[in-house]
Amino acid sequence: MLGMKSLRLENIRKKYDGGEVIKGIDATVEAGEFFVLVGPSGCGKSTILRMIAGLEDITEGSLWIDGVYANGLPANKRQLSMVFQNYALFPHLTVEQNITFGLYTKKISKEEQRSRCLETAEMLGLTELLKRKPRQLSGGQRQRVALARAIVTQSPICLMDEPLSNLDAKLRAKMRSEIRQIQRRLGLTMIYVTHDQVEAMTMADRMMILDKGVVQQVGRPLDIYNSPGNTFVASFIGSPPMNLAEADYEDGRWRIPAGPAINSAHSLPGKKGTIGVRPEHISRAEEKVTFFAELLNVEVLGTETLLGFAVGNHQWSARWPGQWQLCVGQRVPCYVAPEHVMLFDKEGQAAAGSFISGPDKGEAL
Ligand SMILES: Nc1ncnc2c1ncn2[C@@H]1O[C@H](COP(=O)(O)OP(=O)(O)OP(=O)(O)O)[C@@H](O)[C@H]1O
Ligand SMILES: [Mg+2]
Repeated sequence: MLGMKSLRLENIRKKYDGGEVIKGIDATVEAGEFFVLVGPSGCGKSTILRMIAGLEDITEGSLWIDGVYANGLPANKRQLSMVFQNYALFPHLTVEQNITFGLYTKKISKEEQRSRCLETAEMLGLTELLKRKPRQLSGGQRQRVALARAIVTQSPICLMDEPLSNLDAKLRAKMRSEIRQIQRRLGLTMIYVTHDQVEAMTMADRMMILDKGVVQQVGRPLDIYNSPGNTFVASFIGSPPMNLAEADYEDGRWRIPAGPAINSAHSLPGKKGTIGVRPEHISRAEEKVTFFAELLNVEVLGTETLLGFAVGNHQWSARWPGQWQLCVGQRVPCYVAPEHVMLFDKEGQAAAGSFISGPDKGEAL
C-alpha cells in the first residue's frame, strides 16, 4: 500500500474567455476509492482532472489533497500520477525507458528504477516486451505501457482520462478488470474519467455524473441506476436508456398524449410530469396488458431480445430475456407493473417515493 490519500473539491469553478465551463463542483473522494467522472463529450471531465493534477489553474473554489489546501501546489508536489486522454509514448525509447521516463526527475536510483519497472511490468503483463519499441506493440499493449508509466511512480493518487478509449470492446472489458485489480492491490485513490456509462457502472465504487459543467448526481452505481435524480441521469445511465414520456395523471393512470395509459399509484402536484420505465420492466404481458406495442425494430442478441416501438411521440424499447421470433410491424402485448413507473416533475427532477425499491446492492446469494 502506498499510504492512501483522500481528495476534496469545494465549489470548484473554471472560467475561460468563452465563459464558465465548470460551474461549482463539490465532491469528496475517499482514500482508496475508485471514483469515476462520467458525462457526455465536452461536459468538463478533462478540465476537472487537469485542475486536480495542477496542469490548469482553478478559477474559484478550493482543492484539498489529504487535508492540505492544494490550489497553488506545484503539480510535482501533489503525490499523483496521470494517464492522459491522448497518451503518447516516446517512439524512439524502449518500453522499459518509456515506463521509467518520469522517475529520473524524482532522483530515484538506477537500481530502484529497474526493480520498480520489472515489478510493474510483471503486474501488467509487459515483462516480455520491455526491450521493444512502441511501434512493435499492439494498441492494447501500448495502452498498458501508458498505465505502467503512471503506476511505476508509486503515487498514492492516480488520475486516468479515458485510458481505454482506443481499444476494441473485448480488450476494454479485460483492461477494465485489470485496472480495477491493480487499483485495489496498490490501494490507489483513483479518479477515472470516461464518457462510457458501462465503464462507469462496472468500475466505480462511486461515480459523479456531469452535464455542461454541472454535477447531476453522485453515488454508487446501482443506487444511481435504481434512483436516477433527474431525467438526464435516467437517460444517460443504462443501455438502452430509460424510456421517458411526458404524461398527465388521471384516475390512477398516467396518460401519454397520443399513446397508452400506464397504471401507477403515484401522482405529482399539478398531475403533470414525465414518467420513466426501464426497458427490462416492459415485459411480455401474460394476463394484464398495459399496451400493445407495434414493433419498429427487433434485435435478437442471443441472451435477450430488444424491441423498439413508438409510444406517443417517443421511441421506446423493451428488453425481453431469451430469443424471440418477432417481425417488424407485429403487435405484441406488453405489461408494466405500477411499481416500476418512475416519476419526474416538470423540471425533470425525480419525485421522491417513485424509485425502484429493492436490495441495496442487488440480490445476494
Ligand atoms: N483552453 C480552453 N479554452 C477555452 N475553452 C476550453 C479550453 N479547454 C476546454 N474548453 C472547453 O471546456 C469544455 C470542457 O472541456 P473538456 O475537455 O473538459 O471536456 P471533456 O468532458 O473532457 O470532453 P471529452 O469527453 O470530449 O474529452 C468544452 O466545452 C471545451 O470546449
Ligand atoms: Mg476529455
